[in-house]
Amino acid sequence: MAKDNGDFISLHDLNPGQVEYLLDFALDLKTTYHTGKFTPDLLKGKTLGMIFEKSSTRTRVSFEVGMYQLGGSALFLSSRDLQLGRGEPIKDTARVLSRYLDGIMIRTFGHDRIVELAQNSTIPVINGLSDLLHPCQVLTDLFTIREFKGKRLHNLKMAYVGDGNNMANSYLYGAAKVGMTLTVATPKSHKPNAKVLRTSALDARKTGAELKWTEDPIEAVKDADIVATDTWASMGQEDEHEARKKIFAPYQVNAELLKHADKGVIVMHCLPAYRGEEITEDVFEDNAEVIFEEAENRLHVQKAIMATLMMD
Ligand code: CP
Ligand code: NVA
Repeated sequence: MAKDNGDFISLHDLNPGQVEYLLDFALDLKTTYHTGKFTPDLLKGKTLGMIFEKSSTRTRVSFEVGMYQLGGSALFLSSRDLQLGRGEPIKDTARVLSRYLDGIMIRTFGHDRIVELAQNSTIPVINGLSDLLHPCQVLTDLFTIREFKGKRLHNLKMAYVGDGNNMANSYLYGAAKVGMTLTVATPKSHKPNAKVLRTSALDARKTGAELKWTEDPIEAVKDADIVATDTWASMGQEDEHEARKKIFAPYQVNAELLKHADKGVIVMHCLPAYRGEEITEDVFEDNAEVIFEEAENRLHVQKAIMATLMMD
């Protein structure tokens, strides 16, 4: 990432040093935030365009507030209002926006739309979630894990249980970069993306990370220090919600499953959470401190990403 290619689209594009740099930078920014001192000069006079083709609470608010705190401003651009929503090509949108803005954050469906936007932009592009990946969230989760479990991520064992979706894919890329042990448990029919499984395995060889897929949630959470889950029906899959409830029922993160994890296990969730589906109310509330710190940390981590990409 960073100055090398100017975009933040996938954790796969970063080297381990860049991941570490962003996590340390985010910690500086969080410390500054909690001592009441903003860092208003880093992006003074800069503008971020935020294109949303899907809903958002955390991503929208944390990017917008983050830009403000760095001295810049952010524009919320709903695809319902943009000509993009009426069929203007993404490559033309990229070329126009590059003349007004200093950076673009986009949340969309097909990952190829983000890649096309970046290829045709002369300003940094940040992936705010695609069907394939959610790198801002997973970088934030690594930051949160460091806070709760210490900086030595390669000593930790993590399990992701549920749908092999954008979060699962990004956890694979993230764990591979920091040398963590990660087991992903999904039904065979909903495994993580095949290319992500392949390429994250190659990344893992360089850092000593141990990545595994299993169909068995109990095997995945065995002795885990961290268990993460996510919705069973991602944005765009609303019509499949009822069918998915049946498919994923054995993958619910509940007290029974957590008996197999380490005693000090923490449970993470990127939110929004669907209690009674991927996570039970009691497990969610027992881990609320972690989960809402995770949500706050989006702000600090994304400020680090934006400042790194957009600073003069
Ligand atoms: N976790 C996350 O990305 O939340 P939003 O969909 O609210 O942005
Ligand atoms: N997998 C979820 C993540 C939401 C932040 C989705 O894509 O809807």
